[in-house]
Amino acid sequence: MADVDDKSLTENSAATNRTSLWGGRFAGGPAEALARLSVSVQFDWRLAPYDLAGSRAHARVLARAGLLDAEELGRILAALDDLEAACASGSFRPTVDDEDVHTALERGLLERLGTLGGKLRAGRSRNDQVATDLRLYLRDHARGVAARLIELAEALVEQASRHVETPAPGMTHVQHAQPVTFGHWLLAHVQPLLRDLDRLRDWDARTAISPLGAGALAGSSLPLDPVRVAKELGFTAPAANSMDAVADRDFVAEFLFITAMAGVHLSRLGEEVVMWTSQEFGWVELDDAFATGSSIMPQKKNADIAELARGKSGRLVGGLVTVLTMLKGLPLTYDRDMQEDKEPVFDAVDTLELLLPALAGMISTMTVRVDRLAAAAPVGYTLATEVADWLVRKGVPFREAHEVTGRLVALCVARDCALDEVSDEDLRLVSEHLDPGVRDVLSVRSALAARTTPGSTGPGPVADQLAAAADQLATWRTWAAAQVVPR
Ligand code: ARG
Repeated sequence: MADVDDKSLTENSAATNRTSLWGGRFAGGPAEALARLSVSVQFDWRLAPYDLAGSRAHARVLARAGLLDAEELGRILAALDDLEAACASGSFRPTVDDEDVHTALERGLLERLGTLGGKLRAGRSRNDQVATDLRLYLRDHARGVAARLIELAEALVEQASRHVETPAPGMTHVQHAQPVTFGHWLLAHVQPLLRDLDRLRDWDARTAISPLGAGALAGSSLPLDPVRVAKELGFTAPAANSMDAVADRDFVAEFLFITAMAGVHLSRLGEEVVMWTSQEFGWVELDDAFATGSSIMPQKKNADIAELARGKSGRLVGGLVTVLTMLKGLPLTYDRDMQEDKEPVFDAVDTLELLLPALAGMISTMTVRVDRLAAAAPVGYTLATEVADWLVRKGVPFREAHEVTGRLVALCVARDCALDEVSDEDLRLVSEHLDPGVRDVLSVRSALAARTTPGSTGPGPVADQLAAAADQLATWRTWAAAQVVPR
């Protein structure tokens, strides 16, 4: 169910007046300013399918409790189906007078059933309803977000598989540090995405708790069956405490932490692609379909997707801050402040669903300039550590080995030459421990091949990492494809 923007909210049909959920004790309707402030249907309308699923489960529970007879239950379920179809086709739409999704759907039910429609509200409140709807929506969409994360991770894995042996200058402080394989580098962007997926699964297990049955805050005096309702809606159990059930928004904040963290991961990847595609690096060329041009400079090819990944992390982090700030200091139980919980999560879901496919396409179609990477790999004396390790293997204490290697680098800097270009004589002059044998370790290829321990950058361990990541992603696919929420 898409959002309905403010302007598209239609005037209520003549047949029905404002569907008010209260009224008995009120002399008149709300002031225009209150109504305008209060309304949330323009953004919470997307909860409609979940609200309807909750209503079906609630109707069955009322029938089992003897509060609806079989005929009434049948009519209510048929009306809910009809309403769902009308929502999907767009023939039923919220109006300016519907405060929120619950009000709008109650109106739809009343239009179809008359007074019978009013029976469904027994034992239920918008407080347990909205908490339930949001859990259902997020559990459903967490899987969609996971599927998009998996696609990006797969694009990175696929690109990495082409560069298991491609050398690159690994960096710290954006300074050339030690050679790595570019495959290893790309897989270093996959690991955080695997952790994001892991966090979503953990979050999902904690979020699979049903608030229904809590009512406004105190539970219900009617013989409802929260355990059964929970099961019907794909939850593992009903909430243990009705006050907590309607007040708890941990699942919202936690979801927003996960999306903010993912945003930070994507931002880092974006920043690297921006650097890699610059004239100065020239490591990567983007496919035309995933790059943009300039309106004035005909030669330009810009990495806008990567920049938007960097930029959009701001709103993802902001959403988390918004919700934590809103929740801080709220007294139990439900407070209207909590209506502000929805837009940040909807925006987080929308942002990631938009961004991730673009990033995946950009990564899978980019061309890696192996020649430029290989040429850059030894630049900046990235093999100096190999010299120190070679000395250590000869029994020289590392402290001294570091010192000796430092002198060798200083000599190279002064002469503007590479480590393997120093003469036999000069090697001796730098240290009695140095001899021409050191040149054996002074190639990028040998430095990479020497790295065989698990998790290191050599082609061997990288191939293992690649296979493990591909296996894990296949398992995640199954998780993301599961339909846990009845629709
Ligand atoms: N639209 C409200 C929200 O999103 C629904 C709950 C309203 N409950 C209430 N007691 N006013 O939070």
